[in-house]
Amino acid sequence: MRPFAADDAGSFHGRDAEIVELIGRLRAGQREIFVIGPSGSGKSSLVAAGLLPRLARGLSGLGPFVVRELRPGDQPFSRLCQVLDVLPGQPLAATERIGELLTHRAPGASVLIVVDQLEELFTQASSEERERFLDALRALRVEPRYAAIFTLRADFSGALMESSLWPERPAQLARVDVSSPYRRTRWV
Ligand SMILES: Nc1ncnc2c1ncn2[C@@H]1O[C@H](COP(=O)(O)OP(=O)(O)O)[C@@H](O)[C@H]1O
Ligand SMILES: [Mg+2]
Repeated sequence: MRPFAADDAGSFHGRDAEIVELIGRLRAGQREIFVIGPSGSGKSSLVAAGLLPRLARGLSGLGPFVVRELRPGDQPFSRLCQVLDVLPGQPLAATERIGELLTHRAPGASVLIVVDQLEELFTQASSEERERFLDALRALRVEPRYAAIFTLRADFSGALMESSLWPERPAQLARVDVSSPYRRTRWV
């Protein structure tokens, strides 16, 4: 079945704790958050139908956010350029793009990049595309108006931890674990 999308926000239930945790982490100033769980546990739905509609409605002390969503696929760097409105043939200049995307936006606005299915970075992308994508994201860390949320299948958490995207210090790590809502009835 398909994941819940933004249009389904009204019928999306059961993830209040995870949504509160994600919002709390953004409020606390955490700027790269990993949503990790097994395949089918509801990661994409949590972000698309749970978190993003709430951010769009507005929350006191947080945002507004200009949200750009992508799936890495086999060309993650190109996808990143696309969602940051880089013109074909132009260099990325990632931090400058953030400023451009926020032109005419309210003070305090940020760009939130949502990367769904980050595991595709390890399964579909060439190592060159992967490294260009990771370099660009790391370069964005100096920009305080940049935030990112990544969803990742848990069986790829080892690959993520070995990548340059994983924070160097444990205190910088922001991860939200998502388990299947049916887990207890299956296992108890
Ligand atoms: N809170 C929820 N309540 C009921 N069904 C859900 C919920 N979250 C996700 N689902 C359903 O579970 C399935 C997997 O969700 P999805 O978001 O695609 O998971 P993941 O991204 O972790 O693979 C989809 O069919 C989706 O509609
Ligand atoms: Mg998914």
